[in-house]
Amino acid sequence: MGRSTYIGIAAAFAFSSFAFRFFFKPHQHHQPSRLFTVQELSLYNGTDEQLPIFLGILGSVFDVTKGKSHYGVGGAYNHFAGRDASRAFVSGNFTGDGLTDTLRGLSSSEVKSVVEWRDFFLKTYTFVGRLVGRYYDFRGMPTKYLKNAEAKAARGAQLLEKQKREEEKIPNCNSKWSQHEGGEVWCDDGYPRLMQRPLEIALTGKMSKRCVCLKEDELQQSGLEVYEGCDYHAKACKV
Ligand SMILES: *[C@@H]1O[C@H](CO)[C@@H](O)[C@H](O)[C@H]1NC(C)=O
Ligand SMILES: *[C@@H]1O[C@H](CO)[C@@H](O)[C@H](O)[C@H]1NC(C)=O
Repeated sequence: MGRSTYIGIAAAFAFSSFAFRFFFKPHQHHQPSRLFTVQELSLYNGTDEQLPIFLGILGSVFDVTKGKSHYGVGGAYNHFAGRDASRAFVSGNFTGDGLTDTLRGLSSSEVKSVVEWRDFFLKTYTFVGRLVGRYYDFRGMPTKYLKNAEAKAARGAQLLEKQKREEEKIPNCNSKWSQHEGGEVWCDDGYPRLMQRPLEIALTGKMSKRCVCLKEDELQQSGLEVYEGCDYHAKACKV
C-alpha cells in the first residue's frame, strides 16, 4: 500500500470519527446520567486528591477537576466544590447559609445570571450527573422548582431585552470620572436629565435612574430630575 493511500485512509478515518462525534453526540441534558445525593456530592470537594472535583449548580453536577487551581483546596472558588451553592454565584456570599441552592427572593435578572452560570459550566466543563433534591427528583426528573427558576430567568431575559429597546430610543449622557476631578455627565446634543428606568423594579426589585440627553421640547415631561447644582439649560453637570 502506497504512502498516500495510507494517509488517505487515515484522514478518512479521522474525519468519520469526528463526524460521528459531531453528529451523534447526545445532548448532555438528555443523556441518562448519574444521580447524586447531597452526601455523595460532598465527597468530591477537592480534599481527596484521588477523587475528581465536582460542583453542582441548579442541580446539574459538573466535573471541574481541570479547574483545580480555582476549585481545589486553597482555590478562590473552593467553596463551590462538593455542593450546590447556586445562590452564591450571584450573592457572592460564601459564608454559612450563603452557600445554599435556594434562589428564594432573588430578582429575575439574578436568576437569569445563575442560569447563565450553568450554561458556562455546560460549555466549559464536563456534565456528570444530577443532584437529587431541590432541582431534580429521585428519578432525575426536573422539579417544579427548576422549571420555575428557568421560567423566571426567561422572563428576566425578556424584560432586559425590552428595557434595552426602550432605552435605545433615548440616548444616554456621556460620562467620565476621575479621582482628581470627580464625575461629570454631558450631552453633545440636548440637556442631561435623570430619568427613572421603569422596568428596573420588575427586573431587579430596585429603583434605578439613568442620565439621558433630551431636547428642549422634551424637558417638560414628568419624572425627570435636573442634576443638583446644575442649571436648567446646562449641557454638562458635575455629579
Ligand atoms: C470533603 O471530602 C472528603 C472526602 O473526599 C470528606 O471526607 C469530607 O467530609 C468532605 N468535607 C465536607 C465538608 O463535606
Ligand atoms: C451571608 O449569609 C449569611 C446567612 O444567610 C448572613 O448571616 C450574612 O449576613 C450574609 N453576609 C453578607 C455579606 O451578605
